[in-house]
Amino acid sequence: TERPPAILVLHGARGDLSRRFVLPALAALAEADLLPPDWALLGTGRSDMPDEDFVEIVRDTLADHPAREAVVRRARFTADVTRDEPGAMPELLDDLAEELGGAPHVVHYLAVPPSAFARTTRALAAHGLHRGPGTVRVVYEKPYGTSPDSFAQLDAAVHEVLDEDQVFRIDHFLGKEATQNLHVLRLANELFATVWDREHVEQVQIDVPETLDVADRAEFYDATGAALDMLVTHLFQVLAEVAMEPPDVLDAQHLAAAREEVLAALRPIDPAEVVLGQFDGYRDLDAVADESDTDTYVAARVWVDDDRWRGVPFLLRTGKRMAADAQQVTLVLRRGRDTLLGGEVAPGRLTVSLAGDGAIQLTTTVKRPGPVPALALGTARLDLDDVSGGDPLPPYASLLDDVLRGDRSLFPTPVALEQAWRAFAPVLGDDRPAPIVYHPDTWGPEEADRLAAPSGWALP
Ligand code: BG6
Repeated sequence: TERPPAILVLHGARGDLSRRFVLPALAALAEADLLPPDWALLGTGRSDMPDEDFVEIVRDTLADHPAREAVVRRARFTADVTRDEPGAMPELLDDLAEELGGAPHVVHYLAVPPSAFARTTRALAAHGLHRGPGTVRVVYEKPYGTSPDSFAQLDAAVHEVLDEDQVFRIDHFLGKEATQNLHVLRLANELFATVWDREHVEQVQIDVPETLDVADRAEFYDATGAALDMLVTHLFQVLAEVAMEPPDVLDAQHLAAAREEVLAALRPIDPAEVVLGQFDGYRDLDAVADESDTDTYVAARVWVDDDRWRGVPFLLRTGKRMAADAQQVTLVLRRGRDTLLGGEVAPGRLTVSLAGDGAIQLTTTVKRPGPVPALALGTARLDLDDVSGGDPLPPYASLLDDVLRGDRSLFPTPVALEQAWRAFAPVLGDDRPAPIVYHPDTWGPEEADRLAAPSGWALP
């Protein structure tokens, strides 16, 4: 089908997020031939700069990308719209629309700090940029709010200007191939469908340790912390994917409703079931306050109080400067029996790795081959990029493609986010546990072990 022309306005185009995720996503779409024949990229930032300088930034950012020049050719720059004077953007958008022809879709991608979301949205309205001849869509990064109140205020400000179907709140963990495979694994395979409940699952772990530092974006990070950056956002959304009731149809409306239901059933978190940590040396980073008590690590045990999951702990964990990188969802299965052939039966595990192109692993107890009757643990692994005919897109590219096509299936709704904030609220107040210092390159504070007792964390 013919794709209408499109203009991507990248707010905060010089920032870390644009360079690490959005520009590479655009290049990936160009490479996969998923952009319309006519499109333009308009970068913006707090201060203006000549187009040529922005082009250099894009070139540098996409250094080794095969589609680099396809993006570079379309790149322009202008100062942002959050100042009082109209600036050049409205006129530039008109000119671009005329050049591209037709009534282009305009996507405003807000790769700016969360504190600038409301201001930027109002500025779009003040300059009449929230409505266009073509569709206007606005993409928000996470965290969308920093508390139940600030979420509500932000969402009210956004809805003063935009209709909900113009709003796309990115949570790129929903865009990962392996996350999307969770539904399919479950809905297409009776083997998994029948064990996806409290009777068969002893616990669920969603574990995202990172070796990454935060040095190159310490200012953002110090104002955010691990719990807001990852837990109430990515890990909660993945939890909703794992725990949802199977929707009748896999469309945007049914999926959104199913995620909302899980998050509504999430019990408000008990601060006693949360361990926060801060890696040793964090306070020495530039742009981090000497007395900062920002968490760089969080582990939590949470409960979904519905008929499918009542009593099954969901263990969530993530942190910076940890001993290893992984992104995995593990269903620890209950044991059918404790012993066999004189040996102890280990709980089976289904592990879905969200990292990279994704992988699925099934760990089971088997008879150890050989003449002596004995048990062993064996693991079967399927890498999703080995699936024949597969052509995976990176998550940001996949979601940007969805925005361009207007597919809302993989974007959190305000109701889902409101429920996430409600469940997380107890950890934001005076009862917030103090972060415990941990050594870099470890698995974080040992205090988190008790959350996973008796069987322990699947990793390391
Ligand atoms: C981002 C967080 O949203 O996700 C980062 O802000 C984190 O702190 C990143 O490192 C992890 O996602 P991915 O897909 O890059 O591994």
